[in-house]
Amino acid sequence: MKNKNLVLIGFMGCGKTTVGRNLSGLIKYDFFDCDSLIEQKSNMSISNIFNEFGESYFRNIEHEVIKEVSDLESSVIATGGGVIKNPQNMSLLKMNGIVIYLKNSPEKTFKNLEHDNTRPILQEDDKFTKISLLMEEREPFYIKYSDIIIDVSEGSVNEITEKILKIYSKRAQSS
Ligand code: S3P
Repeated sequence: MKNKNLVLIGFMGCGKTTVGRNLSGLIKYDFFDCDSLIEQKSNMSISNIFNEFGESYFRNIEHEVIKEVSDLESSVIATGGGVIKNPQNMSLLKMNGIVIYLKNSPEKTFKNLEHDNTRPILQEDDKFTKISLLMEEREPFYIKYSDIIIDVSEGSVNEITEKILKIYSKRAQSS
């Protein structure tokens, strides 16, 4: 049977990769992480792509990867936080996917990413302000494109995964 993908979207550091991997193991879906696919495709780290070629070059590779993963089925797909910047990405992902927004608070995001240096967009002196402003700018798009919204500002990875499974199976029963 052809099952729709589960596509995780949300701001950097909200746990798309860890929760996605956990979820895929529980429901026996394959797992794909778009950032890792971008790194494999270009044979470079995300930071090096940004530093050497700039953001728009990165967004082009990201779009190529989104085209590829959108053709999958029965997979959990963790996207990068900026995937919503290109509406075409979201149309492709939504064609065969249920989009789940992992909604985080600026405080928890800051806590998760305070010492992180792998997100080029957040390498600024006042990281908390950068996170708050960018989150405010992107939030309407995460909401607009999502089918399910999960609050991840509290709870462990297992608890968040359980929350997703509960809501997802309720939806599946009623459709
Ligand atoms: C980005 C998020 C990152 C990565 C890149 C750009 C963004 O992914 O794609 O650094 O613009 O929000 P994560 O959300 O997995 O950190």
